[in-house]
Amino acid sequence: MAKIAVSGKGGVGKTMFSSVAAYLLVEAGQTVYAIDADPNATLAMALGFPSELAEQVVPIVEMEELIQERTGARPGEYGGYFSLNPRVDDVPARFSVAHRGVHLMQMGSIRGAGAGCACPENTMLRALMTHLLLRERETVIMDMVAGLEHLGRGTASAVDIMFIIVEPGRRSLDVAQDIAALSTELGITNVWIVANKVRSERDRQFITEGLPGLQVAGWIPFSEDAIEADMNEAAAYDAAPTVVEKVRHVLVKANLLPS
Ligand SMILES: Nc1ncnc2c1ncn2[C@@H]1O[C@H](COP(=O)(O)OP(=O)(O)OP(=O)(O)O)[C@@H](O)[C@H]1O
Ligand SMILES: [Mg+2]
Repeated sequence: MAKIAVSGKGGVGKTMFSSVAAYLLVEAGQTVYAIDADPNATLAMALGFPSELAEQVVPIVEMEELIQERTGARPGEYGGYFSLNPRVDDVPARFSVAHRGVHLMQMGSIRGAGAGCACPENTMLRALMTHLLLRERETVIMDMVAGLEHLGRGTASAVDIMFIIVEPGRRSLDVAQDIAALSTELGITNVWIVANKVRSERDRQFITEGLPGLQVAGWIPFSEDAIEADMNEAAAYDAAPTVVEKVRHVLVKANLLPS
C-alpha cells in the first residue's frame, strides 16, 4: 500500500511511466487507483482505455452534488464554513472507471481561486488524496500536472514516493531539482529520479552530472515502440516491452515490487 506521485517537466513521459507502472502493480496483485491530476487528461488513453469507457470518467471537481453533500458547501464558494474533512471512502469505488484492473479517476481543474484555494472542491481532492490509501494491497498512482505549481502541502502530505521523470535536456533537470527540493521541504522522504528517453551513454552522463545528490531509480531508453503506441492510442505496457522491463526495475528499486 503506497501513494505514488509522478512529476516532472512537460512532455518528459510522466503519463507513459504512470500507465506502465499501474499495470505492473496490477500484475503484482495490487488494486491500483490511477489518478489523472492533469486537467488536460491523457492517462486514460495511455492506459489504452476504450474510448467509450474513457468518456464515462467524470472529473471529481465536476461532481457538484457529491461535493455539496460531503462538504456542506457549493463548489465555487471560497472561505466560509464547510467540512474540512469530508467523507471520501466510497468515492474511488463509486466514481472510478476500471479497465484491466486499473481504476481510473480524473481530477479536472479547480475553477476560480486556483489549486491552493480554500474551497470545497479542493477540500474534496485533498481528502481523497489523504484517505484513499487506507486499505491493504491498494496503491494509488497520481499522474501530476507538469512543473511544480500544483505540488501543494495538502496533496503532498499524503505522498509516500515521488518519482520525478527527466529526459536528456537542461530544462527537465532544472525542473527536477526544483521539484526534489520542494518535495523534501514538504516532508516526502522517498524521492527518486527516473531517466526517460535515454539514447546513449552521453545522455546518461548528462543526467547523472546534472543531478548531483539525487538518486536515480532507473534508465528508460528512447523507444520507437513507445511513440508508436502513443500514435495508435495503445498502451505502452502492451506495445513497448523494453520500456516495461525498465519501469519494472524502477519499481523494484523503489521497493514497490519484489525483485
Ligand atoms: N521512452 C520513450 N521513448 C520515446 N518516446 C517516449 C518515451 N516516453 C514517452 N515518450 C513520448 O513522449 C511524449 C510525451 O509523453 P507523456 O505524454 O507520457 O509525457 P508527460 O510528461 O505526461 O507530458 P505532459 O506534461 O504533456 O503531461 C509522448 O508522445 C510519448 O509517447
Ligand atoms: Mg501527461
